Amino acid sequence: PKRAEKLLKAVRRAVKIPLTIKIRSGWDKSGSQAIKLAEIAHSCGIDAIAVHPRTASQGFRGMSNWSIISEVKKKVSIPVIGNGDIVKPEDALRMLSETGCNAVMIGRAAIGNPSIFSDVLALFRGEDVPQKSLCDRFDRMIKYLKDSVEYLGEKQACFMMRSRLGWFVKGMRFSSSFRESIKHVSSEEQALELIRSYQDMLMQTGQTNL
Ligand SMILES: Cc1cc2nc3c(=O)[nH]c(=O)nc-3n(C[C@H](O)[C@H](O)[C@H](O)COP(=O)(O)O)c2cc1C
Repeated sequence: PKRAEKLLKAVRRAVKIPLTIKIRSGWDKSGSQAIKLAEIAHSCGIDAIAVHPRTASQGFRGMSNWSIISEVKKKVSIPVIGNGDIVKPEDALRMLSETGCNAVMIGRAAIGNPSIFSDVLALFRGEDVPQKSLCDRFDRMIKYLKDSVEYLGEKQACFMMRSRLGWFVKGMRFSSSFRESIKHVSSEEQALELIRSYQDMLMQTGQTNL
């Protein structure tokens, strides 16, 4: 904690822009380290704190313990951003109401479904989440591929696509064979071909909605 305090104070002194930090629950399940660190962050002038309540050793296993977000929220008056296991848009609203956090952060669910953010906003406004078509999902997948190639270059983007494209097809029929097919993808053209042939295969089964 002393080293964390020193670090936070130094960064706070060095920058004038809003300064936020993100923490896990700590080394053990109690969450006491997260609470301690949040209090230190608050006293060092940090502007907001994001909490992903899994322990350091937990990796991504098990579920995040949202009660630690509530505990942190009770102890500090700076905004607390809750994070962990928001899979559906409804989960975001549930996290806000269950923990009292000020905002939510969405990680993995956004990789395959970037529209989760607008879906959450729709729920906030009291609207229904718009139904997504299969075409929408594949269009997004292709845009993600093309943007990644533009941003990272073809080689690095294709390497990343070997796992990332799999996030877009979670729960879809034949998704394991699609995931298998992209394991060695090495060019944008090849990736496009594999995406399109998987989409055709699903369309032939008559599936149009997710
Ligand atoms: C591909 C990937 C990259 C990530 N990179 C970072 C990172 O650089 N820094 C960080 O604090 N967390 C990182 N995370 C963790 C997420 O920010 C988040 O805390 C975690 O995925 C739990 O939220 P989720 O259940 O919404 O995914 C990463 C997660 C994934 C899946």
